[in-house]
Amino acid sequence: MDKLVIRGGNPLTGSLQVSGSKNTALPLMATALLTDGPVSISNVPDLRDISTFSRVIQVTGTSVDVIPEEHRVVIDASSFDRAEAPYELVKRMRASFYMLGALLARAGKARVSLPGGCAWGPRPVDLHLKGMKALGADIELDQGYVVAKAKGGRLQGGRVRMEPSSVGATINVALAAALARGESVIENAAIEPDVVHFCDMLSAMGAVLDGVGTRTLRIQGVDRLQPVSFANCPDRIELGTFMIAAAISGVPGQPVSILGGNPDHLGSSFLESFERTGAIVDIDSDVMKVTAPEEIRPVSVKTDIYPGFPTDLQAQWTILLSRASGNSKVLESVYPDRFKHIPELQRMGVNAIIVGDEVVIEGGKSIQGTNVMSTDLRASVSLVLAGMIADGETHVLRVYHLDRGYEKIEEKLFAAGIDITRVSYDEWADPA
Ligand code: EPU
Repeated sequence: MDKLVIRGGNPLTGSLQVSGSKNTALPLMATALLTDGPVSISNVPDLRDISTFSRVIQVTGTSVDVIPEEHRVVIDASSFDRAEAPYELVKRMRASFYMLGALLARAGKARVSLPGGCAWGPRPVDLHLKGMKALGADIELDQGYVVAKAKGGRLQGGRVRMEPSSVGATINVALAAALARGESVIENAAIEPDVVHFCDMLSAMGAVLDGVGTRTLRIQGVDRLQPVSFANCPDRIELGTFMIAAAISGVPGQPVSILGGNPDHLGSSFLESFERTGAIVDIDSDVMKVTAPEEIRPVSVKTDIYPGFPTDLQAQWTILLSRASGNSKVLESVYPDRFKHIPELQRMGVNAIIVGDEVVIEGGKSIQGTNVMSTDLRASVSLVLAGMIADGETHVLRVYHLDRGYEKIEEKLFAAGIDITRVSYDEWADPA
């Protein structure tokens, strides 16, 4: 197994490059199943979740060619012959559940494993199932699998309301609706940039969509879609993570350049909260310069759906607040129990306590390096950020969680001045 060893205290200098978005690349890949012929997707990050999803798609007989050095994936579903997503793969990555909508659209039937819980608690899929039923699918549960069949072999379209608004369910239902016989309407649809970019790819393939980026998404089903070459968008959560890294580890007066991101995708709440901390943001096209403040002001946040503060940035924000000159809070309204990083951060001396769906953070306490355990993707990166500002050495164990969603993060941070290395270790070895 690998761990990251970080010797804290080095300033972050120079520049950091943002990779393609993981959470957008996955639905773009699923969309390729809706046509015959090569679909080429560029700006795909070289990540474990991408290779896992490639394997999920390959199970259907579809050819998937991942070209990491070009950050490109070519998917050709001409040889599609199996409408199934097995447990062994779905359990590794919840987003595999996108296969439900893609397979129903493609084959009029699907057998897809239920994903189960995730590291920080239950994450239901009831809205995905409700959506498929509304479009005319019969759904049964069989030994942990969702078995779905379109009545008459093809979905008819229908109307569904998402409550709460869900990124995954909106995408899944839109995938299913694209090749349905009639019109579908998704009320209270998600408007996250991931959803909008996915809709743009569907449109480029010939799908008929209306209301993209609004709360009412209409999809007029078509008989067929065309292969396309499409560019994935930059990873907004990586951009936000790097901005926080620059604010906590940058040198006041010396901006850190973050290249290739799209700040609009972060939403207004994150950008406003970030500037309220005293950090200076200067945007010129796709170059963002972030200058660390002399003193970080405590800014409480509440996570919410887009354009609210992203839940995928709250663990990192907690580290920023631990540096602030005062106390503040992070309130999690999307996943009220997403706080697995807090006990690990407490072991490093971060004074943060969980009170219901909030974390209260005392700023200005010193942080010490030690061994800490990654539990999920965003929790892991918060441990890396903590290690960058800790006294001494931090060993972030089980770094495979981080590898799911941050492309070569240690190489990027090392090139920008951080003392960070990847080391193999034996998790079961006796302590020396
Ligand atoms: N929800 C339901 N029923 C459903 C689906 C969702 O009640 O059937 C609830 C969830 O429990 C949650 C809310 O709806 O309270 C929003 O969840 P959503 O469905 O939007 O989340 P998701 O699609 O499963 C994606 C990202 C997550 C990110 C969330 C929220 C991907 C692959 N995952 O998940 O990203 O946290 O949206 O923005 O796109 C990550 O990247 O670390 C990550 C977890």
